Amino acid sequence: MALRAARSRPSPKRRAAERAAIVESAIARALIGRLEKRSPYFERYDWRTHARPNQIMPAGDWYSWILMAGRGFGKNRTGAEGVRELVKHNPGSHGALVARTAADVRDTMLGNPGSGLMEVFPPSERPLWEPSKRRVTFPNGAYATTYSADEPESLRGPQHAWAWGDEVSTWRYPHALDMLRMGLRLPLVWPTPTPRLIVTMTPRTTKAVKELLNPSPEVEALGRTIITRGTTLDNAANLAPLVVAQLYARYAGTRLERQELGGELVEDAGDVIGDNAVAALPVPHASHRDTSHLGHPLAGQPQRLAGGLQFCRGHALSLHCRADLGQAPASPGRLRARRRSGAGLRHATTQPKSSVQES
Ligand SMILES: Nc1ncnc2c1ncn2[C@@H]1O[C@H](COP(=O)(O)OP(=O)(O)OP(=O)(O)O)[C@@H](O)[C@H]1O
Ligand SMILES: [Mg+2]
Repeated sequence: MALRAARSRPSPKRRAAERAAIVESAIARALIGRLEKRSPYFERYDWRTHARPNQIMPAGDWYSWILMAGRGFGKNRTGAEGVRELVKHNPGSHGALVARTAADVRDTMLGNPGSGLMEVFPPSERPLWEPSKRRVTFPNGAYATTYSADEPESLRGPQHAWAWGDEVSTWRYPHALDMLRMGLRLPLVWPTPTPRLIVTMTPRTTKAVKELLNPSPEVEALGRTIITRGTTLDNAANLAPLVVAQLYARYAGTRLERQELGGELVEDAGDVIGDNAVAALPVPHASHRDTSHLGHPLAGQPQRLAGGLQFCRGHALSLHCRADLGQAPASPGRLRARRRSGAGLRHATTQPKSSVQES
């Protein structure tokens, strides 16, 4: 017995070799990281340079941030970058990554080209993803467990300090969100001890979504909800331009336009084309979208598209970036300066109307 135990213990030589390998890999990571930061290639990982104001995680003490936006807005990218920021400042923390199914976690939250969590980290900071353990481990010791919203009971037990739920409006059981909230109870180190829930979705009228968007004042008093709105058009600069124009032309005036492209919560959204009598459900202080001042990127001068949409040269714009109107796209320097001053941010809290803060 003792002989077997001695045999299974690694020899001192082997342990020394393992330790050397760990040190070597840490040094290699640090060196690669330093080189990466100097290379122009690294710029693509500087989210604050690329993000639009309504993609930056709101400041302050809040419990839920709900990003409801149209298809292709960049919801996944925003959620993944939000997680990256939380992980960076909360070493050793435990988070939850929840999507409709296990395949959605794998293909969309983690592996989506250009917007999945594994993609938004520079190579030297990339986490280790172990699908068999449903675990993503970050170099600073933070880690996340992945869950399928189809199995709400798997969220019973584990505790988290942060969580990201994607496309909550498609979750089969509203109960999954309840279970997620019950385990979201560990304090964060940064920016405040309040645990954070990031929800990204193109909204649909489900019980869970209605409840998410209209929490009771008692609940709000104990942990703020911030709702951010966005449309497909906001991200047109990063999508194939003709496709965006075509989508808006095809679905102009329909429920699908308002729901899928406009990110609005629309009652009983069907796929009826040409139905203009659409009832939008009240969303607390949702940003108002006014595009009547915009021009068209292809013609180079203002032009009205089907459905009342307009584009501006080289840039698809909506309310939050009015400052760019009639000008070339802002340089990274200008964008940074604007963000420092907080100009153009478009987050709305769910506080009563009299005390609404647009940050
Ligand atoms: N601010 C940005 N700068 C550069 N690229 C961006 C930005 N925001 C989003 N993108 C890119 O736009 C593309 C679409 O983003 P993403 O997949 O996150 O959209 P989505 O809203 O989740 O789409 P869907 O509605 O299909 O779920 C991705 O390639 C993403 O990297
Ligand atoms: Mg998505």
